[in-house]
Amino acid sequence: MLRMRAFVILGSTARADGGVLLDDLPGTSGRLDVLARCVRAALCVSHGIRRDVLLYLVLLGGAAPRTVRIDGAHAKFIRPDERSLATLLLKAIGRVGSEDARFVEQRSGIAVACAGLEAVLHDLTGVPLVVLEKGAPDIRGARLTNAAFFIGDHVGFDPAAREALVSAGARPVGVGPISLHSDDVVTVLHNELDRELDRTGG
Ligand SMILES: C[S@@+](CC[C@H](N)C(=O)[O-])C[C@H]1O[C@@H](n2cnc3c(N)ncnc32)[C@H](O)[C@@H]1O
Repeated sequence: MLRMRAFVILGSTARADGGVLLDDLPGTSGRLDVLARCVRAALCVSHGIRRDVLLYLVLLGGAAPRTVRIDGAHAKFIRPDERSLATLLLKAIGRVGSEDARFVEQRSGIAVACAGLEAVLHDLTGVPLVVLEKGAPDIRGARLTNAAFFIGDHVGFDPAAREALVSAGARPVGVGPISLHSDDVVTVLHNELDRELDRTGG
């Protein structure tokens, strides 16, 4: 099996419509800024991109759900600053032509589905699922390599989303006793998995 890490960020209020102002992302986009920071954390390393990462951003705050999938193996022009990343997301979603619930590539490595969590779960069929929760059993010792990690936004998971994940077989895992920002959780996960692979020669 190919080595692959997937991250899924559930943006319960995030939207990407014409009312979003780049000069006031937190105030006008339902916190698309939270998702933009997760793009940097999931894909950007010093002087490069993590090619083995798939990132899903689920935007549930608009008139209809939208999910952006960024494939590190093919994505181009991923810059580390929040404004460029928000622009990238807005453009990708703005290009959507028809209401297709499947992922449709809008530019190299970046696809959009006109659907929410269900599109992600369908896309990740067969991949072990992990739901990130403070207080859950620690990632250390969990022996995870290939997996999809589901992370909440500034308000956390809504009960229906958490229930859907557990029903789909997701295993709860934690990264320590303090509640962290979503992008910091991604960074900690990468670091733990990088170290585990380094230790085991993977
Ligand atoms: C800013 S936190 C959410 C805070 C929200 N008020 C709550 O209580 O759920 C964003 C997300 O990061 C993840 N998270 C935060 N701290 C964590 C921890 N220590 N271990 C595992 N996941 C964590 C969870 O998925 C959470 O939904």
